Amino acid sequence: MIYELSFYICKNNSKHVESMKDKVIIKREDFIFAKKLIWKMRNKNTRFDTKEFMTKGREYLYEYAEKNVGPLNPERRAFLKGLLIGIGVFAVASAVPLINSLNPQEIYLKSFPWMIIVDSNGNPIEASKIPVNDPEILLFEYPMLGDITFLLNMGDENNNPVAVPPTEVLIPETGKTYHFPGGVGPYNSIVAYSAICQHLGCVPPEIHFYPPQYFKVGGSTPNYIPPDAYQAAMQAKAISVIHCDCHGSTYDPWHGAAVLTGPTVRPLPYVELYWDSSTDYLYAIGMNPNAPPIMDHTSDLEGVAYLDGYDESTGCPKFLLKKGQGVTNCYTTLQNEGNTFEGGS
Ligand code: FES
Repeated sequence: MIYELSFYICKNNSKHVESMKDKVIIKREDFIFAKKLIWKMRNKNTRFDTKEFMTKGREYLYEYAEKNVGPLNPERRAFLKGLLIGIGVFAVASAVPLINSLNPQEIYLKSFPWMIIVDSNGNPIEASKIPVNDPEILLFEYPMLGDITFLLNMGDENNNPVAVPPTEVLIPETGKTYHFPGGVGPYNSIVAYSAICQHLGCVPPEIHFYPPQYFKVGGSTPNYIPPDAYQAAMQAKAISVIHCDCHGSTYDPWHGAAVLTGPTVRPLPYVELYWDSSTDYLYAIGMNPNAPPIMDHTSDLEGVAYLDGYDESTGCPKFLLKKGQGVTNCYTTLQNEGNTFEGGS
C-alpha cells in the first residue's frame, strides 16, 4: 500500500526519543492501534486537526480515533489517555519514534513474501507512472506492519529518470560491505529504502528525500541541508539525498543509501524490487540479510504485526502474490499453495 505525505514543517522528536531511558511494555494490540492512529494523523487525507483538539480537548482525539481507526473500549481510552500524558498533546502526531520505543511482543515471518505494491485504492502501481524526483513522499510497508519504506524514482535536475547502478555499500559501524543490486523499472531508476532512520528511528516527514531541485546547501525547513551533508554528497556525486532532520544523518540514494553524514553508522536497508515488464507492476520481494536490519529490529523478518490487506472471507492475503500473478489470481491460486505468513493481522 502506498502512502503519500506532503513535505511540511514538522516537530523534532529527538527529545522524546532521548528521554526514553527504559522501554515500556505494552499490549501488542495497543501498539498496533497507536501506530495506525499516528499514520492516520499524518496522512494528508485524514490529518489530525490540532485547532479542533484545542477546542474540544481529549474527546476530539477519541472521536478522531473511533472514526479513523476503530472502536474504543474503555481500556483503549485509558491507553490513549496515558499516551497523551506521556508525550504531551501536541506531540501525538509526531510520536512514531516514541511508539517505536515501546516494546510489544514480536512475531516472525518464515521468509520474505512477494508483495505487489499497490496505491491507496488497492490498484497495482505502474512503474512507468511513478513521478521522477517526486517531492511527495511515497511509502509502502514491507515486510511487516510499520516497516515503512521509501519508493523513489531517481532522476536528474530536469526530472529525467536516471539508472541507479549496483554497488557495494559500506557499513561504517562494522567496516563490512554488502551488495546493493541497483534500480529497477523501465530506466532502472526505481529504488526502495527503509524510511526509518538508522540513528534513532525518526520517520517521514522528519527523514525525507531531497530531490535535485531542493538540494542546495542551506535552504529552509523542511529542505535545510547542513554544509557538511552537502559537501559529502558532492564528493559522492549524489545530486539528491535522503536527510534526517532529527539529528542530521544523510544517506546517498544513488549508492544503496550509504551513509554520507552521521550520527548514523548504518546505511538504510533496501527492499529488493522486481519489475514485471509485461504489466509494469512492481513487487517487493525481499531484503538483504547482510545489510543492517531495519532500525530496532534484530532481523528484517521480525515485527509486531502482519501487513493489513487480508480478505477475511477467504483468508487470502490480497497483495501477496507470486511473480507474474495479477491481483485477481490471488484468490484462485495462492490460497491453495500456502504462503509465508503465519496468520492475519
Ligand atoms: S534519528 Fe537521529 S539523525 Fe535520524
